[in-house]
Amino acid sequence: MKKVLTIAGSDCSGGAGIQADLKTITAHKCYGMSVITALTAQNTTGVYGIESCSDEFIKNQMDCVFKDIFPDAVKIGMVASSEIIESISQKLKEYKPKNVVVDPVMVATSGSKLLNDDAIDKLLNELIPLSTVITPNLFEAEILCGFKIKTEDDMVRAARKIGENYEGHILIKGGHLEDNANDLLFSRGEIYWFEGERVHNPNTHGTGCTLSSAIASNLALGYSVEESIRNSKEYITGALKANLDLGKGSGPLDHCYKIN
Ligand SMILES: Nc1ncnc2c1ncn2[C@@H]1O[C@H](COP(=O)(O)OP(=O)(O)OP(=O)(O)O)[C@@H](O)[C@H]1O
Ligand SMILES: [Mg+2]
Repeated sequence: MKKVLTIAGSDCSGGAGIQADLKTITAHKCYGMSVITALTAQNTTGVYGIESCSDEFIKNQMDCVFKDIFPDAVKIGMVASSEIIESISQKLKEYKPKNVVVDPVMVATSGSKLLNDDAIDKLLNELIPLSTVITPNLFEAEILCGFKIKTEDDMVRAARKIGENYEGHILIKGGHLEDNANDLLFSRGEIYWFEGERVHNPNTHGTGCTLSSAIASNLALGYSVEESIRNSKEYITGALKANLDLGKGSGPLDHCYKIN
């Protein structure tokens, strides 16, 4: 069985973070492991509290995983402080896992910034260079490239700009575009579009976490980066189309729609 590690925050309501990742990894028939960076008190209506894990304890969790069940792929999500980012980077350098997907969670869907400038700096200069694939949403790509992104042409310009300082694969997610939900991959100078119909489902809690852990699972299974993204885009579209409707706000996806 292929093994996938998620390093992320816990979402007690089960739709995003560690919980979404483990469901996604399981739905891909991989073995899921988790290093928890923070506990959040949240549900479909909002985030009501965050308790961060110490960087020492995060390193302890990473040692336990890597020294025993070495993962075939790692997905990294919410990393709340510069100390945590530094610790995770240090351990990745030590263990050198093969496939690392970094979801650079910097801006919430509401548009509010989740990281301070020091942490953003560490994310850009220490963690992102260690990754195979990064998956910024439109707002995060704006921070990475330094200009506003409104159209698909802007997405291409942004990917080329980010690619000037990063050798890995860049997936700019189009979940926040107006007409469609097309994602763009910039891979070693080549542009690939992953076209997705916009699903009219208000329940989109955890789409970003789910997509990045699906990509990590596909990489663990041996698919190329391009195939992994194609498979993951199909998976997320299916999980949205399954029309699960739970909670009073923006509800979770049906991670297990393929098993039903
Ligand atoms: N309404 C939708 N219909 C179809 N696909 C969608 C929709 N919303 C998001 N997606 C897809 O979901 C994936 C995640 O993209 P999105 O832009 O929502 O990421 P995100 O903003 O990081 O998510 P999150 O808010 O969970 O952090 C992408 O593949 C995107 O195209
Ligand atoms: Mg996101």
